[in-house]
Amino acid sequence: MQPTSSAVQAAGPCILVVFGVGGDLFKRLLLPALYNLAERGLLNESFALVGLARSRLSRDAFRERTHEQLEQFATVPVKPDVLERLVEHFHYLEGDFEEPTTYERLQEQLALVDQQAGTGGNYLFYLATAPEYFGPIVEHLATADLMRETEQAWRRVIIEKPFGRDLASARALNGSIRALLSEGQVYRIDHYMGKETVQNILVFRFANGLFEPLWNRDHIDHVQITVAESVGVEQRGGYYDHTGALRDMVPNHLFQLLALTAMEPPTCFAANSVRGEKTKLLDAVQVPKQGDVAAHAVRAQYGAGIVGGKTVAGYRETAKVNPQSHTETFVALKLIIDNWRWAGVPFYLRTGKALTRRASEISIQFKQAPYAMFRNTPVEQLTPNFLTVHIQPEERISLGFGAKVPGPSVHIGSATMNFCYKDHFGAAPSVGYETLVYDCMTGDATLFQRSDTVEAGWNIVEPVLRAWEEPNTIAGYAAGSRGPSEADALLARDGRHWRELEA
Ligand code: BG6
Repeated sequence: MQPTSSAVQAAGPCILVVFGVGGDLFKRLLLPALYNLAERGLLNESFALVGLARSRLSRDAFRERTHEQLEQFATVPVKPDVLERLVEHFHYLEGDFEEPTTYERLQEQLALVDQQAGTGGNYLFYLATAPEYFGPIVEHLATADLMRETEQAWRRVIIEKPFGRDLASARALNGSIRALLSEGQVYRIDHYMGKETVQNILVFRFANGLFEPLWNRDHIDHVQITVAESVGVEQRGGYYDHTGALRDMVPNHLFQLLALTAMEPPTCFAANSVRGEKTKLLDAVQVPKQGDVAAHAVRAQYGAGIVGGKTVAGYRETAKVNPQSHTETFVALKLIIDNWRWAGVPFYLRTGKALTRRASEISIQFKQAPYAMFRNTPVEQLTPNFLTVHIQPEERISLGFGAKVPGPSVHIGSATMNFCYKDHFGAAPSVGYETLVYDCMTGDATLFQRSDTVEAGWNIVEPVLRAWEEPNTIAGYAAGSRGPSEADALLARDGRHWRELEA
């Protein structure tokens, strides 16, 4: 992320090597992001891409396919000249990720492309593969001497999520990668950090004098973080049934939102400072004792229902899902942060699939006014102020407050001030990967996860994962509903309630 508003420069020369170029991530996100970067002049003239996958494909067929994929997934109308220039330096290599000879051939191809395209030996390896290949690919790259940096040339690797499936496996993966690479070469991606509204949390909090003085236990009653999806598990039953909502969403996406909302101000806008504060915050979250999990966490699974007017089968009826599955498709958590700023302020997190609507937001609810001077008026109860960062589908910030309803008597109505990105700045359609890919090319790791941040996230959820290993009961909710009543009870015990999910 560029710290200033000055014109952004094209990234330096490099070859982007995509492992898993036949997959969904490449065609839906990475390719459209590369196109957007090319169109905005942010890719170097000396940029090249080597796509690696198992299937046999000629270079021409690969380029042809990228044309078709872009037609389908680009976020802007595709300009033929931009596209031609982009794919001119696209190459394809067929290979098995676990086969040493693949890396010998890759080495040869990179040397050749380097020569032709003048990429200066700078290589960015993007692991858009199933997670079991992350460790082996890094090992093969290192063995083939492809990760060795020189004064002139950098070598970096982007690793997709999920980074491990619990604390032990994340530590083991970090350990094996760190034995071969320096931390500065590793870019652990979380696509939530590519969203403009998520990046804006930092700017909103730390570039305005107005909000930060209120951002603490003296003024804030509690915080709610919601990532609600209306889609179900769809074609991903095989992956999802072994993963569940907790692993899929919480230690990564939801904790990014939590960390940005609650962390202390970094001393400067630099990777280590920002990432250090995020990690400190996650380290301050109370890890629930395994016996206390039920008081802090709710899991549930969706049954059949209606979402957006369409009938949806229950989770257990989904292809590749065990018909007796206890995998959760909904999680709610109550987290306590043990630090000076947040002592006594609960953070409630929820995420789920097949809910009534798609809504990702962070809502900060402020404390009531200390004294209600409206006694002896029709105003019985004041509604608290809330500030909500809406991440998707709308990208906006809203501030809720009470206002006098016009008329001779004192009636207070709820009013909302709204800042909408699109209306104010105009739309810049993107897939959210543009900044992340550009940042890797320029060596800015601010938006990426450090090894300790990833481990701090897993550490918090570890007791919940363990408690939920026992396949006992799991709550249910109907597809298209607002989630299970057990999640309502989690807040009701504290005298609070969730914000409505309905539009
Ligand atoms: C992915 C999860 O990381 O994030 C998916 O694996 C989830 O299950 C997706 O649907 C949500 O991302 P977004 O950007 O659509 O909120």
